[in-house]
Amino acid sequence: MRPAPLLAALVLAAAWPAASQPMAPMLTVKEVMKHVVNPAAETFWKGSGSVTTEDGVEERAPTTDAAWDALVNAAAVVLEGGVILKAPGQGPPDPEWQRFSQQLADAGALGMAAARAKDEDKVFEAGGEVYNACYACHAKYIPRPANSLWKQP
Ligand code: HEC
Repeated sequence: MRPAPLLAALVLAAAWPAASQPMAPMLTVKEVMKHVVNPAAETFWKGSGSVTTEDGVEERAPTTDAAWDALVNAAAVVLEGGVILKAPGQGPPDPEWQRFSQQLADAGALGMAAARAKDEDKVFEAGGEVYNACYACHAKYIPRPANSLWKQP
């Protein structure tokens, strides 16, 4: 092993994170919701349950491997959405924020496992857990008008 390139590589490796950090792009919480969490959750929710139309009842569970894969992917984004929300500088420095973010990540993990197992009932349940995580965090962190009929749980 030649020492000079090794040393250069070590110096580069040490300098890289410090040099790249100020440039690192980061979304706001609102953008994470709009572009990451919400579309992924919508995709996940559309993969379970049924919808009733004039033409009858349409089951929404995937029927092809590709569609199941897409559901796994959507749940993975929900999971990572929770991880992103926990990142330093994301949301208020508050243990409850961390807890709700973790709740979202856990729900995404459940969703991934259910979709990988192609288990329609578990996907439906995981969808409920995902919804609960959204609702719990919004209930605490999205302000409502004082005269709102909606009450804090
Ligand atoms: C850890 C907290 C947290 C979790 C979990 C969470 N949200 Fe949010 N969400 C927020 C906050 C805070 C806002 C308000 C952001 C703002 O307006 O600056 C928001 C706003 C939104 C918005 C409005 C975005 C916009 O363009 O104004 C949507 C849509 C949304 N969330 C969807 C979801 C869905 C769907 C889930 C669950 C899959 C979810 N959120 C989970 C905290 C959370």
